[in-house]
Amino acid sequence: MNKQTEPFLTTIAPAVWAEVGQSRPHESAVLHVLGEATYTDDIPEVQGTLHAALGLSSKAHANILSMNLDAVKNAPGVVAVFTAKDIPGTNDCGPIVHDDPILSEGLVEYVGQPIFVVVADSHDNARRAARKADISYEELPAILTPQEAKKAQSFVIPPMHLQRGDVKQAFARSPHRVKGEWYVGGQEQFYLEGQISYAVPKEDNGMLVLCSTQHPTEMQHVIAHALGVHSHHILVECRRMGGGFGGKESQSALWAALAAISAAHLKRPVKLRADRDDDMLVTGKRHCFHYEYEVGYDDQGRIIAAKVEMVSRAGFSADLSAPVATRAMCHFDNTYYLGDVDILALCGKTNTQSNTAFRGFGGPQGAIAIEYIVDEIARNLGKDALDVRKINFYGRNDEEGRNVTQYGQKVVDNVIHELVAELEESSEYRQRRAAVQAFNASSPVLKKGLSLTPVKFGIAFNVTHFNQAGALVHVYTDGSVLVNHGGTEMGQGINTKVCQVVAHELGISLEMVRATATDTSKVANTSATAASTGADLNGKAAQDAANTIRQRLAEFAVKLYGGDQSSVGFANGFVHVNSHAIPFAELVQKAYLARVQLWSDGFYATPGLHWDPQTKHGNPFSYYAYGAAVSEVIVDTLTGEWKLLRADALYDAGQSLNPAIDIGQVEGAFIQGMGWLTTEELWWNKGGKLMTHAPSTYKIPAISDCPDDFRVKLYKNRNVADSIHRSKAVGEPPLLLPFSVFFAIRDAVASVAGYKFNPPLNAPATSESILKSVEAVSAMANAAR
Ligand code: MTE
Ligand code: MOS
Repeated sequence: MNKQTEPFLTTIAPAVWAEVGQSRPHESAVLHVLGEATYTDDIPEVQGTLHAALGLSSKAHANILSMNLDAVKNAPGVVAVFTAKDIPGTNDCGPIVHDDPILSEGLVEYVGQPIFVVVADSHDNARRAARKADISYEELPAILTPQEAKKAQSFVIPPMHLQRGDVKQAFARSPHRVKGEWYVGGQEQFYLEGQISYAVPKEDNGMLVLCSTQHPTEMQHVIAHALGVHSHHILVECRRMGGGFGGKESQSALWAALAAISAAHLKRPVKLRADRDDDMLVTGKRHCFHYEYEVGYDDQGRIIAAKVEMVSRAGFSADLSAPVATRAMCHFDNTYYLGDVDILALCGKTNTQSNTAFRGFGGPQGAIAIEYIVDEIARNLGKDALDVRKINFYGRNDEEGRNVTQYGQKVVDNVIHELVAELEESSEYRQRRAAVQAFNASSPVLKKGLSLTPVKFGIAFNVTHFNQAGALVHVYTDGSVLVNHGGTEMGQGINTKVCQVVAHELGISLEMVRATATDTSKVANTSATAASTGADLNGKAAQDAANTIRQRLAEFAVKLYGGDQSSVGFANGFVHVNSHAIPFAELVQKAYLARVQLWSDGFYATPGLHWDPQTKHGNPFSYYAYGAAVSEVIVDTLTGEWKLLRADALYDAGQSLNPAIDIGQVEGAFIQGMGWLTTEELWWNKGGKLMTHAPSTYKIPAISDCPDDFRVKLYKNRNVADSIHRSKAVGEPPLLLPFSVFFAIRDAVASVAGYKFNPPLNAPATSESILKSVEAVSAMANAAR
């Protein structure tokens, strides 16, 4: 109990001592609360630092006919203006396809595309100067929506197809069919700390770039290419982000490159910090998806054939649209076995921001489509949607069959039956279903809705080689420990978890372990902290490093005290050897004097993964994380206003490394996903300008939108896969839990016409679209009379 405050006072038997699995505060919690946590913009500026701002396109698709930047250059405080021709190396920041110019070379493809960068003595002067450009354009036709892109066959990458079985035959034997189209909007990441990079030139072509990024290594590469130097000239560092949510995976590159290009030219430090409106105008968001679907099913609601065509709004360049679409295809099953299935995924090239990663990375867009379809099947059959969901679940084992996904991976860790049963019981789903119906029968205007939705989410990067990580652990002679790993901290608690793993391995208390900034000069060739794999991969790498040191110390302890190396125990600040308990710091001191190496690197590569991008088949995931949620809403059918009354969420974090942090992740993801599906609406005007580019017009959930009654629990489970201490990832999957909020709203709307008709309701279900949906079902009911 008191081991946090008095780490070296008591010995605890190694067999019962544990630092993992404990609820520990986020390593920076106190700093966050005091406002003392250092974000990139808080780092003290070097003398002579200049500030940059971007000049943006005002047209969605146009050739630049002429550009007069004299007024920009002559504006107060301006030091320099740079355009594409000033880029010494490659003018590209595309993460996969090289179609992403850092600065426009004469063609602009969306409103907000950067054309030039102006550097001035202050942030304010740079921003004022940027507006003074005189640019004339020749406008070209613009494509703004995925539907238009599909019609024009305008794609950023070739169409992708995933299929199993023979849907034609399966449709022929299906007694019922549901067919339709549907649309789910995109979402702005809305990290609280915007995009920022601070480039400080170093000797001999060197460049230090302090950057708010989920992917320091990729920033290093992009900057090196843009400057035409080697990777070893560039050092990228990130201590923490004020949120990333996928938005700083590839899209921090433009800012990093422009700060570095400016700094390299001027030989002075340059900071580029995006103002919120510019950030939203320039960077990509979650992809919106348009679906055309047709599904065959039997009298029980069991799906026999499923065919879907999904087209996303990729934006003007490929960015991560292909892997996002791949993940969408691999999550169209969600928790359901789809026998004969045919999925076509298209990435529509549009004259809008280049869309990118956002928590879930296409998984939510894939899974919500099948949930919408299941919701319709249930209403068509007059069944409770939960019963239709259950009958479609993956089988529990080989005997039941039905346990191979449409991409060929066998589901060997399925707990969805048990998990949903537990939630159904603990949330009193059936009783509340009856209560909701009784309420609606006597309430003409206010209508309640209820829904339970399940989640299954594959953990690992589809691209196999990204599933690797490295770490560096230093034990100092006073027994304190410093950890560096390839993951980045964005608030999700990766450092806390990795430090717990290291403390556990060395048998010391958590406050003896500290994590430093992510730094490309310490751990090389890192993957993005993404796909929810950060703690999984870097935790394993850090464990590997710590274990090497532990082995060396154990060997040394046996030399001093005798006994057997394999029975040396490390717990609560003591090393237990041959009936001795030596304080860890004391043994370390002795080991140093005996010239034992007290630091080590560590490495991890997730085993058992393979993926064929051609056939879209393989074993892309290490394991699946499961969950389910029940939401109850009340809707005002005269105004479309609504409120989430109660939400119950049950999430499978395996043997959680840190239950407090994991519950925080589930709560945060739930509310963020709810915002995506309800209030957060991206709206472009006819000219292609994003008009919702600030919180004044773009509505993310506030604390007042959280349900008064919010019951989040972790499901008791242990990872079947050999993950770090048998835990499971938690970063993204819970974003799918608030599907239940959307379907509860749809349920409430359906009650207006006695649950007989499927309310047409796109996401986000804003109050306006809820109201339209109410009118539409009322009209359906009237027409049927
Ligand atoms: N939590 C916070 N507080 N801030 C974030 O930016 N990003 C999410 C999730 N949780 C995010 C977050 C995303 S998109 C991912 S992929 C995971 O955290 C990454 O962290 P992990 O892999 O270390 O869990
Ligand atoms: Mo998260 S979208 O994988 O950065």
